[in-house]
Amino acid sequence: MSVLIAPSMLSSDFSNLQKDIAMVNESRADWFHIDVMDGVFVPNISFGFPVIKAINKYARKPLDVHLMIVDPDKYLAAFADAGAAVISVHIEACTHLHRTIQSMRQLGVLAGVAINPHTPVSHLSEVIANIDVVCMMSVNPGFGGQKFIKNTYSKVEELKNLIIQKNSGARIEIDGGVDFKNAGELAKCGADILVAGNTVFAHANPKEAVSLLKDAAAITA
Ligand code: DX5
Ligand code: ZN
Repeated sequence: MSVLIAPSMLSSDFSNLQKDIAMVNESRADWFHIDVMDGVFVPNISFGFPVIKAINKYARKPLDVHLMIVDPDKYLAAFADAGAAVISVHIEACTHLHRTIQSMRQLGVLAGVAINPHTPVSHLSEVIANIDVVCMMSVNPGFGGQKFIKNTYSKVEELKNLIIQKNSGARIEIDGGVDFKNAGELAKCGADILVAGNTVFAHANPKEAVSLLKDAAAITA
């Protein structure tokens, strides 16, 4: 299966969101990646329900909502209602992760768990068989345009092994600093989904950037 590309709307032009939504719709991108930040779990605040609903109104591809917030359980239903098809909660923000995953299942969304760069892959071992997506952070969450952390390559391989060992159907999503240079190597290590903010939206031709990423990931996949 080809590697999915999920442009991060955090890097889009908020003053002309509809134009960037149309670009993603028309491009070879697969998902819209939506970064929600609360200023508590991460040192930044992005956007919430009204903006997600506005994106959902025009998006013709699934909304992949990445919650960088404390206490995500409180808001899962509201994010599903706003249009999320995939929701990822941070393992570091969930005291009762198993219950949180059950709630996501009940809401009918794909259940994702995000892990920070310092969090070992082994922390996922008891839930991996029960989730759809692991959002592996390849930067410290909070900002777009940061430098890719190279240790991610070996973490992806380790996660792939865990997925096989536990007979899990989880897909591996890489989030942060993804570019034309590392996309192929990430795919080779086992990545299934690549999030890209800066690489897509800072490019002179964002639609072409999506295509280049898709091709870069396909060469070695
Ligand atoms: C970081 C976010 C990422 C970010 C990716 O906290 O979760 O999704 O927007 O942006 P780039 O690709 O620019 O690192
Ligand atoms: Zn993200």
